[in-house]
Amino acid sequence: MAISEYFPVIGEWIKNIFLMLFTLSFLGGGIFVLIIVYAPSDIKFHVTDASLTKFNLTNNNTLDYKLEANITSRNPNKNVIVYYREIAAIAFYKDHKFATVNLTPFDQGHKTTSFLHVLFEGKGVMKNSLKPKQLFEYDQETRLGIYHDLAIDLDILATYKFLTHKSTRYNPPMVQCRRLSLSLVSNGNSSSTPSFHGRKCRIHHFFENR
Ligand SMILES: *[C@@H]1O[C@H](CO)[C@@H](O)[C@H](O)[C@H]1NC(C)=O
Ligand SMILES: *[C@@H]1O[C@H](CO)[C@@H](O)[C@H](O)[C@H]1NC(C)=O
Ligand SMILES: *[C@@H]1O[C@H](CO)[C@@H](O)[C@H](O)[C@H]1NC(C)=O
Ligand SMILES: *[C@@H]1O[C@H](CO)[C@@H](O)[C@H](O)[C@H]1NC(C)=O
Repeated sequence: MAISEYFPVIGEWIKNIFLMLFTLSFLGGGIFVLIIVYAPSDIKFHVTDASLTKFNLTNNNTLDYKLEANITSRNPNKNVIVYYREIAAIAFYKDHKFATVNLTPFDQGHKTTSFLHVLFEGKGVMKNSLKPKQLFEYDQETRLGIYHDLAIDLDILATYKFLTHKSTRYNPPMVQCRRLSLSLVSNGNSSSTPSFHGRKCRIHHFFENR
């Protein structure tokens, strides 16, 4: 009858394991809730306004351009400050980069919206020439006075302060403001009415290094 004497011990042992598992899952759930509540949300970027006043492609590859855009960045977090150390705005037409400008660094406090103004102006040679199909599209768009597939990316170097923790410098993923369609407005006369209604930019995991 020796075995029955062990049962209460084993029962106690199992009870302790269950108690421990229960405590662990409770703790885990608590930590999970804390992460959900306190983890910083991504910074949100919008192109709120944009205008194209010059867009002339000559000799296949040289672009004479003037593109302006107003972009907002919204920090929805009440426990995070973002310090933008370097911001480069890059302009694309049909995936061909044609201009880069550096914006003024700034700090973005808790729950604030910042307003950025970007001006691309000049003459530049596109890195790769447009493909025949894209040249055809360019000609067609020129006739209609509206250009499709313009894009602005933001290449950022930042640090942030989360509660009391200060991060080192890092590169968030590229902010991508894609598929902008803009009508050409020249000399105050627009052939087609400007119809830009704003566009949300794409950014995932702002607080992670690229
Ligand atoms: C951007 O904002 C400025 C100042 O608020 C305004 O004058 C301008 O018309 C806006 N739009 C563009 C495309 O720059
Ligand atoms: C574009 O550039 C060409 C060559 O410089 C010029 O002849 C033409 O008038 C320009 N078009 C516009 C709309 O400025
Ligand atoms: C582009 O260049 C090619 C050869 O270099 C030429 O045949 C063609 O006419 C040019 N197109 C335009 C739009 O300038
Ligand atoms: C703008 O358009 C009007 C009417 O089409 C024309 O009379 C005027 O000369 C144009 N102005 C410019 C700067 O092109």
